[in-house]
Formats: sequence, structure tokens, C-alpha cells
Amino acid sequence: MAQYDVIIIGGGPGGYNAAIRAGQLGLKAAVVEKRGTLGGTCLNVGCMPSKALLHASELFEAAGGEFATLGIKVKPELDLAQMMKQKADSVGQLTKGIEFLFKKNKVDWVKGFGRIAGAGKVEVTAEDGQVSTLEAKNIVIATGSEPAGLPGVSVDNKRIVDSTGALSLPEVPKSLVVIGAGIIGLELGSVWRRLGADVTVVEFLDRITPGMDGETAKTFQRALTKQGMKFKLGAKVTGAKAGKSDVALTVEPVAGGEPETLKADYVLLAIGRRPYTEGLGLESVGITPDKRGFIETDHFKTSAPGVWAIGDAIHGPMLAHKAEEDAVACIELIAGKAGHVDYDLVPSVVYTAPEVAWVGKTEEQLKDAGVAYKVGKFPFVANSRAKINHETEGFAKVIADARTDEILGVHIIGPQAGEMIGEYCVAMAFKAASEDIARICHPHPTRSEAGRQAAMGVEGWTMQA
Ligand code: FAD
Ligand code: NAI
Repeated sequence: MAQYDVIIIGGGPGGYNAAIRAGQLGLKAAVVEKRGTLGGTCLNVGCMPSKALLHASELFEAAGGEFATLGIKVKPELDLAQMMKQKADSVGQLTKGIEFLFKKNKVDWVKGFGRIAGAGKVEVTAEDGQVSTLEAKNIVIATGSEPAGLPGVSVDNKRIVDSTGALSLPEVPKSLVVIGAGIIGLELGSVWRRLGADVTVVEFLDRITPGMDGETAKTFQRALTKQGMKFKLGAKVTGAKAGKSDVALTVEPVAGGEPETLKADYVLLAIGRRPYTEGLGLESVGITPDKRGFIETDHFKTSAPGVWAIGDAIHGPMLAHKAEEDAVACIELIAGKAGHVDYDLVPSVVYTAPEVAWVGKTEEQLKDAGVAYKVGKFPFVANSRAKINHETEGFAKVIADARTDEILGVHIIGPQAGEMIGEYCVAMAFKAASEDIARICHPHPTRSEAGRQAAMGVEGWTMQA
């Protein structure tokens, strides 16, 4: 029977980073993965293919509009098959890259479905039905998550699709209804709108993107509306009937009132994700997930000795970089080192145009917690680089503690916001004050100057607005 120091179930950002770190630390590690390729949701059907389509569709739309402003005249023609192919090619290269890293770090990839079969044992069922058992001192659960379902809306991935289906539609829909104004709905809704679909987003709450700073979310919704995306807020879908060429949806106001019928070529259900632990054998080691399906942990330790859990399967933001942080900290703890993750400093990015990125607290969270804070805000319309590039939408906003000036949150909406937010992750990890950023020289002309001006704004000495 094969013996390991660590067996990791799941080869996504949690699992593969855990395995590589284990290899680096001299632990004998194996990853059990049921999918034919490594990389999990993120590389195969999540972060990577969605960003490939977001990038390509943004350029397609720009070619048909903004390019003319810059004096570039082109008539773009969509080649959807090629757009999908370049997405698949990039994904293939990335998943192969993980295989290479496994070899380099002496990690075994055991192909098949993993089930915990009692303390220190993992049973693997290969595709051909063959069952083998592996033994390990430590088992790490990194099985990730799956799309949440909605009663009355059954996903067939033909007309009613989840995120995986929406990454590979065979045609540009004339009309697309997205259920859920969260990150998936707005990113993939943007892709298909840019390619020509008429997109309506139905959202249960009376706002979009819960969790995002309220003022930023309002600006975001305005920007998406200006682009042609339609929103039905405070509305719930109570049923969806798929026909041969379209779907009829019943939608009701949450506050009560007459239901209406919406028709669309395709429907994307994107109302969140839930942990995936089906058939994992948790009961064999006495682990019971909580009501929402999450495995409860204390510093990644589950209630079963020698069984650890990381990534989307445990509490915290369901993000690839968070899974990666969990992975490294968990393996370092297994190796007797001091692993740690600061969950207050996990950034979020929505890769739409404009992008939205943030780290730390929102104004709403600080108000609820009774923390006194000051805000500095700077619009990109007053930033020279944004102006030159005709990309003036949005702002950077720095929130600092009113007493100590420590930066508590940063919210940026505008192109490349995702690239800008890293500066504030570092600053906040080092407990920077807004004055630290305000007094640090930033390159000119760059969008990063808007962040510095926002920091200056906390003490009221913004210079360029
Ligand atoms: P996963 O990536 O889900 O990996 C789990 C793996 O375990 C899977 O490969 C699964 O096949 C395997 N598995 C499960 N059970 C078993 C078993 N019993 N035996 C063997 N194998 C098993 N996050 C970001 O940070 N940035 C983004 O831009 C982003 N974009 C996204 C876009 C979309 C459309 C989606 C759906 C998600 C996106 N995410 C993004 C979220 C990100 O994909 C997840 O947070 C991340 O993949 C979680 O990593 P994980 O390792 O915990 O789980
Ligand atoms: P989400 O949690 O971001 O948004 C779901 C939305 O659906 C919310 O606005 C919610 O109020 C709404 N909703 C819930 N039930 C509803 C109902 N019955 N009818 C109408 N609306 C309803 O979930 P989403 O978009 O599915 O994404 C899942 C996760 O994937 C994200 O939370 C994020 O962690 C990850 N992700 C991250 C990305 C990134 O980092 N750029 C990109 C895509 C996904």
C-alpha cells in the first residue's frame, strides 16, 4: 500500500499549492484528482477561461467603438470558434504547467475519485473502476465547491447553464437572462453582452454585488447600465421552463406583487457556490459539515485527527488566492512551522470593465462596527493617465481610522483596478497609515497616482482635483 506524509484530495489552487509546498518542504505528497486535468475549478472552468473571454470580448467591443476615438478604424468580425479555441489553448498550457510543477517537486498525481476510508486511509476509484487504497499521516481536503442550485430552475447546460456552460455557449445569444448580480453573473454577463447579447440580470437583493462597498457598487451598476446591461433588482425567479430554442422564466418582486414572464435564448444561473464534499467519506472519520456544507476547521484542522481542510470547502471568501494562502499555511503547520493567513487582507477583484478591486473593510462594515473613519476619494477623471487614455470612469477611495490614520479599506473602480490593489495589500499588511501612501512618490503619469491622491484626500490635501 502506498504510504505518504500528506495526501491531498482535490487538485485545484488549494490542492496543487499544498502539494507543491509539501514537496518543497521534503514531505512525500500525493494529490488525488478526479478531473482529467489538474488546476481545479479555477484553471479549468473558473478564473482562467473566464478571464480569457473577458480579455478577448473587451478588445472586440473596443475595436467596434473606442478604437475609432483613438484614430484606429477597424470593422471587427467575431470568430467565436477561435475565441473559444484560444481560451482552451491557454487553459491547456496552464493545467500542463501544474503537471510540470508536480514532477519538479516530486508530487504524485493519483487519478481518480478520492474517498476517506477511516483514519489515515484514502480509497481511490479510477475511471476504469479499479479501486486502490493509499495511506498517509495527514489528509488534506481540498475538494472545492460547485454551483448552488435554485428550486424550479434546472440546469441542463444547454439552454439553462451554470458558469461552466456559460464559458462555452455554442453561439452568441440574442438574449441572456442572468440570475444573480454577483461576480460570476456580471463577469460572464459582460462577456456575452460585449459579443452582442441583450443581457438582463435578475437579482434578489435591492443592490448588486453584495459585499462590495455600497458607493462603489452604485457606481459599478451605473457603469454597467450605461453599457446596456439591464437590471431587475429585488426580484426572484420562481421557475424556468426550457424549450427548444428559448427559456421562459417566472419572476416575482421580492416585496410581493404580480409575477411576470421573461423570455430569453439562454439563462445563466449564478447565485453562489457551495462546498463540494459529495461521496468524500467524511462520516468515516466523524466529520459533519455545517448547515451550508462547509467543513469547520481551526487553523485548517478538522474535528478528526490528521484530517485538514482548505480552500472553498471551508469558510472564508471562495477565491483562488485565498485557497492558495490556506494551502501554504496548512502545509507549513503540518510540517511543524508557523502557517498563518490574514483573512482581513484577502483582496477581491471583479474583472469587468471598469474593473472593481478592494481590500479591507467597506464603509458599511465600519459603520456597523462603530469604528470612526475618514475617507479620501479621487476620481479618475482628474488623473492624467486616465484622461490621456480616455478611461476616466471610476475612482480610488482610501478609508483610514479617524484616530490612528491606519488604512482600513481601499476600493478602486476603473481600468486595471485589480493591478492597483496589490499596493494596498502590502501597505495594509505593514499597517500603513494613509499618510504613508500620501508621502510616497508614485510614478507619473500612472493610474496609481489616483490612489496616492485619494490617500492625500484623507487629510484633505489632494492636489490634482
Ligand atoms: P477547486 O478549484 O474547486 O478544486 C477542487 C478540485 O477537487 C476539483 O478539481 C475537483 O474535481 C476535485 N475533487 C473534488 N472532490 C474530489 C474527490 N472526492 N476526489 C478527487 N477529486 C476531487 N477566484 C479568483 O480568485 N479569481 C477569479 O478570477 C475567479 N474566477 C472564477 C470564475 C468562475 C466562473 C468560477 C466558477 C470561479 C472563479 N473563482 C475565481 C473562484 C475559484 O475558482 C475558486 O475559489 C478556487 O478554484 C477554489 O480552489 P479549491 O482548490 O478550493 O477548489
Ligand atoms: P456571488 O455570491 O458572488 O453572487 C450571487 C448573487 O446572487 C448575489 O448577489 C445574491 O444576492 C444573488 N442571489 C442569491 N440567490 C438568488 C436568487 N434566488 N435569485 C436572484 N439572485 C439571487 O456568487 P457567484 O456570482 O455565483 O460567484 C460565486 C463565487 O465565485 C464568488 O463569490 C466568488 O467567490 C467566486 N468568483 C470570483 C471571481 C473573481 O474573483 N473575479 C469571479 C467569479 C467567481
